[in-house]
Amino acid sequence: MKFAFTGVIAMLSMLSITACAASTDKGAESAKPAMMAEVKKVSAATQKAMPEKIVVAAAETPEAAATPAVGADGFALPAQKKKSTAAEIKPLGSDKSPHDVATAAAKGTLKNPYSYTTMNPDLVEAGKKKYMSISCNGCHGGNGGGGMCPPLSNETWVFGADDDTLFRLVALGSDELLKQGYTRKGRENVVGPMPAHGQLIKTEDDLWRIIYFIRGNFRGDAKNIKW
Ligand code: HEC
Repeated sequence: MKFAFTGVIAMLSMLSITACAASTDKGAESAKPAMMAEVKKVSAATQKAMPEKIVVAAAETPEAAATPAVGADGFALPAQKKKSTAAEIKPLGSDKSPHDVATAAAKGTLKNPYSYTTMNPDLVEAGKKKYMSISCNGCHGGNGGGGMCPPLSNETWVFGADDDTLFRLVALGSDELLKQGYTRKGRENVVGPMPAHGQLIKTEDDLWRIIYFIRGNFRGDAKNIKW
């Protein structure tokens, strides 16, 4: 114990000797200019590094906006995702409930008001959002590729591929279609009833956008597009 204690004292005094050495040692005095020079070198280097930081900030000026901005880590920042114009797409369908539209319209007369000639990716995206918000993906998968239920992206169409049939199937459900005399023509991997969604989907326009997404997501042969 006594030994250890003296040991600590000895260590402490040794430390204080070294700590004070710089001010007492004459040799240290002569080392001072060299140290100062070192400090100057370091600060000059820091100053040299400064303008680079300013350059990074300058990348936010309008002229530099065209070149990709650089993040603090030195890597280019990911390009800003273009704001979707879906909200600006004028609704072409009515705001009536799909159920009412499907029951009132004569068979074969329902047609998507959005043209498929040149597919608008923003509208496909908008349709997908609706599709997800109604939870169609719970049965058909996020991209309509099928899950528990038939895929919506292949060439097999249970009751028919046309707009009129798809609109009625989604709005009224399989059971109602069978009651109306429709028959299952195509055979998918799963056979089961598609529940009616005509009251869950708020407007006719919403359902046309969902069908637009299904069209945009078709993975089959373009030759077999019959809509
Ligand atoms: C509870 C599961 C379930 C949900 C939810 C569901 N579906 Fe279906 N869907 C089915 C089943 C099962 C079939 C097959 C119907 C049949 O064979 O009669 C089907 C068929 C379809 C078809 C025809 C596919 C083909 O190959 O001909 C379309 C289009 C479709 N659903 C769209 C939708 C949309 C859009 C939604 C959301 C509004 C939706 N489904 C929600 C189960 C579901």
